[in-house]
Amino acid sequence: MQRADWNGQSGERWAANQTRLDQILSAFGEATIDAAAPLRGEIVLDIGCGAGASSFALADRVGPQGHVRGVDISEPLILRARELTPAGAPVAFELADAARTSLAEGAFDLLFSRFGVMFFDDPAGAFAHLRRALTPGGRLAFVCWREAKENDWVRLPMGAIKAIVPPPSPPDPEAPGPFSLGDRERIFRILGAAGFVDIVVTPFDGTIPFGMGETRAAAIENALEMAFEVGPLSRALADQPEAIRTRAADAVRAAFAERPGDRAVMIDGAAWIVTARNPADIPPS
Ligand SMILES: C[S@@+](CC[C@H](N)C(=O)[O-])C[C@H]1O[C@@H](n2cnc3c(N)ncnc32)[C@H](O)[C@@H]1O
Repeated sequence: MQRADWNGQSGERWAANQTRLDQILSAFGEATIDAAAPLRGEIVLDIGCGAGASSFALADRVGPQGHVRGVDISEPLILRARELTPAGAPVAFELADAARTSLAEGAFDLLFSRFGVMFFDDPAGAFAHLRRALTPGGRLAFVCWREAKENDWVRLPMGAIKAIVPPPSPPDPEAPGPFSLGDRERIFRILGAAGFVDIVVTPFDGTIPFGMGETRAAAIENALEMAFEVGPLSRALADQPEAIRTRAADAVRAAFAERPGDRAVMIDGAAWIVTARNPADIPPS
């Protein structure tokens, strides 16, 4: 399901909106890279690397003696990442399912992800598989969204269309998807079951430039386009008739107009930054 989605509409739309999405996500990625503290010469796996922005930033940090391997299940995004790779950067991209792909035991100093680890069918199994690819004492660092109700970029547009489109039945909060790791206790459970230690889950709040433009009105239209292209609103409206989509657009435009911003629409985003370690003495599995 995730493979089909990220190779179909979601992957195509992410690739098409990659520059914008990188602007939206960069503060979250930078804070997570700081928490990961990559050292020169380290070997890093970037999980669900998308079009590669975080892989390139990590490659800068590890330098030419280090290496970053980006893995993603989306072909359009891996192709984009390869196109965007700066000449000589110590980074390579692979089309692979991070939960299953063969990874040499102890091959990586750091497992990293910017919003790419919320889509596993069996998260504890996937993280256990990934942990075995870490050196003894090696680090995990990722960022994921907190619950949808804390994230205005989804709460605001979904709230605006409530009276226009019948609300989708509440999703299983643990089903693979952007908010599947929103519950802090679930993160501890999954990573603990996968064998990680020293698990630290820290809230990170960022103000997201959700729309940008030459004028405030252009920024609001830009935010509207984005919400219609990617994320829960786009899915809720996908099969709706044009008249409903038009009414929904008016309501979402009005909601975005209430957010601050000069030539932007600034919206709050709430994430967890998670760090953990592989035990230095790995128990036999
Ligand atoms: C929200 S996007 C984030 C992309 C990128 N990390 C970024 O910050 O721009 C999630 C990414 O995870 C990838 N993904 C989902 N499940 C995956 C899996 N099992 N293995 C590898 N990549 C996966 C998707 O294809 C998608 O590119």
